[in-house]
Amino acid sequence: MESYDPATYGERIADIYDDLYERMSDVETTVATLAELAAGGSALELGIGTGRIAVPLAARGVTVHGIDSSAAMVERLKARPGGATIPISIGDFAEVRVEGRFSLVYVVFNTFFGLPSQEAQIRCFASVAHHLEPGGAFVIEAFVPDPARFAGGQNTQTSRVEVDRVIIDLSRHDPVDQRVVTQHVLIEPSGVRLCPVQIRYAWPSELDLMARLAGLRLHARWEGWHRQPFTARSPSHVSVYRPGP
Ligand SMILES: C[S@@+](CC[C@H](N)C(=O)[O-])C[C@H]1O[C@@H](n2cnc3c(N)ncnc32)[C@H](O)[C@@H]1O
Repeated sequence: MESYDPATYGERIADIYDDLYERMSDVETTVATLAELAAGGSALELGIGTGRIAVPLAARGVTVHGIDSSAAMVERLKARPGGATIPISIGDFAEVRVEGRFSLVYVVFNTFFGLPSQEAQIRCFASVAHHLEPGGAFVIEAFVPDPARFAGGQNTQTSRVEVDRVIIDLSRHDPVDQRVVTQHVLIEPSGVRLCPVQIRYAWPSELDLMARLAGLRLHARWEGWHRQPFTARSPSHVSVYRPGP
């Protein structure tokens, strides 16, 4: 059995990623907010993937650098109009050091939770603090955990039913390690295909604590990119951290 490593998700899903997720969020508003937070400086995206956000952000005049562990995802980014000029570092974004400092470091679409342990997530915050300019911003877009989704420690969702394809998501939940292992199962006329994804989720309060360990402070938290107020019922958050005591 193949083991799961930081590149597995991207390598297995790259050829269908844009078809599944290109329009999963409001790209225009995301990019407008990130451009404002970059404040005329340069940006670093953690888990840049196929460039869904980075390419339109670069098109707005922001110099963007990316880190990703999957060569297959980056190949897709390079094939996008405007993608070839974006510099990429291949590796684990909790560990990789990129030359220079950035006014904005960002990680969107729950990608921070791709780091498999609390230790890796703490190392990532430290690495972000190293890469930020004084006064810079670190932005995380992520879901708010909802353990109630997992009755009996598991969950099954039918995410697509098309004429020639069905996608079923099968998940198991470990509430102690805060881990969810999922298989996106694609059933097509050619056969069955498996796209695994494994995450370690964190509560907003835990992210804030990790930030403090790295010398960052929560500066703003919204429910989404339209800067809606974050409340106890918000299913997601966009959190902005800045260096500070
Ligand atoms: C859900 S995709 C998001 C891609 C892009 N940011 C977007 O919003 O469309 C997650 C990306 O993060 C990458 N990734 C996951 N874990 C990683 C890690 N530990 N280090 C570097 N890249 C990672 C995957 O290869 C994939 O390209």
